[in-house]
Amino acid sequence: MPAAVDIDADRFRERFEAYADIGATENDGLHRLALSDADKRVRDRFVEDLEDADLDVRVDELGNIFGRYEGENPAAAPVLVGSHLDSQPYGGRFDGQLGVLTALEAVQSIAEADVEPARPVEVVNWTNEEGTRFQPSMMGSSGYVGFETVEELLAATDRDGNAAGDELERIGYDGDARCELPEEGVHSFLELHVEQGPVLDDRDLPLAVVDGVYGLSWLRITIEGAADHAGPTPMHGREDALAAASDAISEINRLPGRLADDAVATVGELDVEPNSINVIPARATFTVDIRSYDDAVVDEGVERIEREVEAACERHGADYEIDYVSRHEAMAFSERVRDAADRAVETADVPATHLVSGAGHDAQHLQRVTDAGMLFVPSVDGRTHNEAEFTEWDDCVAGAHVFANATLELANEDA
Ligand code: GLV
Ligand code: MN
Ligand code: MN
Repeated sequence: MPAAVDIDADRFRERFEAYADIGATENDGLHRLALSDADKRVRDRFVEDLEDADLDVRVDELGNIFGRYEGENPAAAPVLVGSHLDSQPYGGRFDGQLGVLTALEAVQSIAEADVEPARPVEVVNWTNEEGTRFQPSMMGSSGYVGFETVEELLAATDRDGNAAGDELERIGYDGDARCELPEEGVHSFLELHVEQGPVLDDRDLPLAVVDGVYGLSWLRITIEGAADHAGPTPMHGREDALAAASDAISEINRLPGRLADDAVATVGELDVEPNSINVIPARATFTVDIRSYDDAVVDEGVERIEREVEAACERHGADYEIDYVSRHEAMAFSERVRDAADRAVETADVPATHLVSGAGHDAQHLQRVTDAGMLFVPSVDGRTHNEAEFTEWDDCVAGAHVFANATLELANEDA
């Protein structure tokens, strides 16, 4: 009979609501950008909670926060569990935060129960998962697994020119611990997250075990034309950067349908200079986010975007430059962790399915160096990255219960 653990659903909910107040928006959303003052406040509260739960706290040089619970064999590779506390601008309360608090609740419940796992378990808050203020996204987990170097990640700047490293120092989370894998390695990583899509809600299911994550490419495209007066300058011969950008953007939005059933493409940022009603735009900068579970589709999409931008610029007499911001390949999660999650689902007798994630997650970086996996709880109407994001509390509790038991099973694997 495997050991089992129950979570404290009241504590879990109270804590979730308290955290959701830190950086809350008027419409029940969350505005807690990475390394902002609100991020500092929630980190302070998180460290306090880790200490109250008697976990050993450490902060690394990328600001990742760990709370460690020693198992029977402290020399064994630990199981890591967690997610992120930063949010999108005017985003939702569940994205990331639910996963961190589920992990904390699971480990605290394990620590309080009469079962001591064989391996250490560490709760973690990864720095800057969202990538909205500083790019790349998933910064903390990327540095931890050595995908990008700590130095290059700390040098990333926001729109105002603030470096991530300086902002970490300003909020007091430029930690002393090295941001690197422990010598003994990591046994496994498990993350709970909201689905951020409509499948579970449509099918009225409370839970999914995640099979993998889409590949993605992020581009920042700058089109250079020439400013001129909007009145006397004839339409022919203009070098209108925004006209070229809008031609390209229209094509980019049509592209996924021509690529693959699961392909998606989004232009989420657009800046125009000089941004004046009666001046022909001299410069237009926009971003592209393109994804599919098939990396060949992502690469083909990027090539087609390059061709569309070139053609649009030729038509409008403009020049362009493409900055290849990020490329994350599609990632399939470990069978071992998926199996542990399946068994916990079965034991809890919760109806569940398997899904692939269109959203990026820290777990995909962890999969590079260990066995990683995820659980999804539903997003009502599939809405996310906005204030309307919502998950029924019963589903959060069911997910946390399964999560705690999957964590315990992984932590009991021979150490
Ligand atoms: C993060 O939420 C992403 O998928 O971009
Ligand atoms: Mn997230
Ligand atoms: Mn997100």
